[in-house]
Amino acid sequence: MTTDSKKQILVIGATGAQGLAVVDSILAPSADGTPSPYTVRALTRDPNSQRARGLAEKGVELFKGSFDDLNAVRKAFEGVYGAFVNTDGFTVGEEKEIYVGMKIFEIAKQTKSVKHYVWSNLDNYLKKGNYDEKYNCEHTSGKGRVGEWLTTQPSDTSKDGMTWSCVCTGPYMDMLHFDIFGPQNKREDGTYVFATPLGKGHVPMIAVKDVGFWARYSFDHREEVSARDLEVASEMVTWDYLASTFTAVTGKKAVVVYQSIDDWMKNYHNVDEPVARNFKKGDGTITFRKNFSAWWATYRDDNIKRDMDWIRSVHPDSYTLERWMRENGYDGDSQKFSYR
Ligand SMILES: NC(=O)c1ccc[n+]([C@@H]2O[C@H](COP(=O)([O-])OP(=O)(O)OC[C@H]3O[C@@H](n4cnc5c(N)ncnc54)[C@H](OP(=O)(O)O)[C@@H]3O)[C@@H](O)[C@H]2O)c1
Repeated sequence: MTTDSKKQILVIGATGAQGLAVVDSILAPSADGTPSPYTVRALTRDPNSQRARGLAEKGVELFKGSFDDLNAVRKAFEGVYGAFVNTDGFTVGEEKEIYVGMKIFEIAKQTKSVKHYVWSNLDNYLKKGNYDEKYNCEHTSGKGRVGEWLTTQPSDTSKDGMTWSCVCTGPYMDMLHFDIFGPQNKREDGTYVFATPLGKGHVPMIAVKDVGFWARYSFDHREEVSARDLEVASEMVTWDYLASTFTAVTGKKAVVVYQSIDDWMKNYHNVDEPVARNFKKGDGTITFRKNFSAWWATYRDDNIKRDMDWIRSVHPDSYTLERWMRENGYDGDSQKFSYR
């Protein structure tokens, strides 16, 4: 419940990699050391999961439900001051993500207590690639279309109105723990091999803790961010820079092997599985291979831009790749295999 002293934020996706960082940031003391003005309610399908229980230990109220069960979502919104909404396109797929992305906003509008609504956005890669099918990355374009639709919606800064804003992110720097970004193997002489189809392009990486920063910033600066899509990143990363930073931090030798997207995909198994978990092979939905070919092509061709001067002017303490590696004790070993 929102009380006189604290404003409650509903976080959809709170138990996820992104959501955990967002919750921590929302609950953190303010810059002047005073306690956070917010509490959190988390929508989760499983309040008994390890992550959900961890949130409860931090004082988060757990609300059982799925974001595609709109009756449950409506109940979860009751009485909250704000919402941070990160739907999971990797579970429900693009079509449903677009539909629920619109419906959840409408429910927030109908819930008169909501004063600020944050959509966790991604760029519409298909549009930013001028609708060339080779950039058809469903897990980003679904969110991006919802973000564009939001720009046609009212954002009412009056005391009783509801404002909205987006935090438009990119791949987590934390994906370096997975072989999609981290080294795929190590040569006999100890050289770590970073294989990529990126060419000389840039990946707009963001540390999940920086996603947390931008979420909190949005609730703290409701009027300033009203009706805006905050396009953020921690650093624009090339693979030469990734390898040289890795060597500077770890003292280990590293080499970049530039591959075609087709050759890079051969490093992976199951690439013809649907990219969204709720789908079965052969049902006609987009595959991991097609989705992530478009993802890499978008970065290779530098279709995603970020104004790093603006980002650092608002968030001077934003992560660099080097700081992220040092804080995480990153050593390039123990990569997890992931095709997502
Ligand atoms: N990986 C990246 O680098 C990256 C970067 C930016 C954006 N994203 C986007 O972030 C989204 C995934 O979030 P994540 O990265 O935090 O992933 P994650 O760690 O896999 O977590 C998934 C989250 O989604 C929730 N969830 C999934 N299906 C749900 C449903 N039907 N109802 C309610 N909650 C549901 C899960 O909650 P419960 O299991 O507790 O219900 C969990 O909190 C994707 O849309 C992805 O495109 C990913």
